[in-house]
Amino acid sequence: MLILGIETSCDETAAAVVKNGSEVLSSVVASQADLHAETGGVVPEVAAREHVGAVMPVVKKALKQANISFQKVDAIAVTYGPGLASSLFAGVVTANTLSALANKKLIPVNHILGHIRANWLERKASEIKYPVLTLTASGGHNDLVLLKDKKSKPKLIGETNDDAAGEAFDKVARLLGLGYPGGPIIEKVAKFGKSPSFAKTTEGRPQPQPLLKKGGVDNILPRAWLVPKDKARNFDSVELGRRLRAGKLALNSFDFSFSGLKSEVRRRVQGKKLTKKFVADMAAGFQDSVVDVLATKLLLAAKKFKAKEIHLAGGVSANKALRARVQQYAGEAGLTFRCPAKFSYCTDNAAMIAGAAYWIFSNSKNKFVKLVNINPGLAI
Ligand code: KG4
Ligand code: ZN
Repeated sequence: MLILGIETSCDETAAAVVKNGSEVLSSVVASQADLHAETGGVVPEVAAREHVGAVMPVVKKALKQANISFQKVDAIAVTYGPGLASSLFAGVVTANTLSALANKKLIPVNHILGHIRANWLERKASEIKYPVLTLTASGGHNDLVLLKDKKSKPKLIGETNDDAAGEAFDKVARLLGLGYPGGPIIEKVAKFGKSPSFAKTTEGRPQPQPLLKKGGVDNILPRAWLVPKDKARNFDSVELGRRLRAGKLALNSFDFSFSGLKSEVRRRVQGKKLTKKFVADMAAGFQDSVVDVLATKLLLAAKKFKAKEIHLAGGVSANKALRARVQQYAGEAGLTFRCPAKFSYCTDNAAMIAGAAYWIFSNSKNKFVKLVNINPGLAI
């Protein structure tokens, strides 16, 4: 089954042709990142105007690269939410029009489900063993989602109470005077900084922070574990993480919170000269805090829900430090770890939308609609 996917939920205009949910015949992305770098974030109306101009050329390019005519396409899949309303309109109106004119099947796709199904691209579906627990983290969302088996509906296990991880990367990059999008730049700069993960603490009693002691940067940043206060009482947040992983403490929430971390970076940055060393150490400390929480909660949720595989998806899954940490935990727990087969399937793209549409179709053959409308606040 050949599906043409269209994705315009935020600041990438994308189209792709995917065969049977796995074989990517083409995947074209027109990124607006340079445009939004000037404002340090996405201005919705600016993004919408760009989509309007880019969407049809991108669709045509995707068909050309796939070397198929539009007549050969079996269905059109489009992201209808969650996302920016004005951005979603461009893709949805295009998909509605193409499908009505050519009398083609139309499949609305949830953007988050698209990110989750990115892990099925360029892989044999039979290799993937359920239950699968996916952490999908990007600029707009930060969710733990369980796919119990091939047919069951995705179940939301946890989400962020405030900022998404990618959003925190973007905001902290701005505080550190780096550009947009923040994730890739923080990752790059953090390599030159000292990761506080090497800071040793003895059981329950944190030792003086080594970098600080040597006159270095105080870059051990707090983690919001969302653990009951009485359990958290005696430990700093780094030690708490160790205890959670060792099974010495129960975690009562698989939700996330990153806005306090961002505020803490702001507090430590205030009045400081942004030297290369300071920025690199803060970037390393910030990344370490985010990676610690994301990887730990993913691991603990996988154990609780008896997952066979843990997957990373969404823009933040491009982060190599996160991948390495999750891979380590997965290995220790005997779980299979996967992230999208290509980096370009982590960030927004339409191959994941066409891929997800195939699985929606496979699970319910009459999931077609005549007309899609947008749903900016759509939940998983
Ligand atoms: O999935 P995506 O392209 O769009 C949304 O659905 O939001 O994700 C974009 C987000 C941005 O916040 C960006 O900073 C983050 O993903 N990101 C990263 C990395 N690459 C992109 N975060 C951390 N490390 C990266 N290497
Ligand atoms: Zn996304």
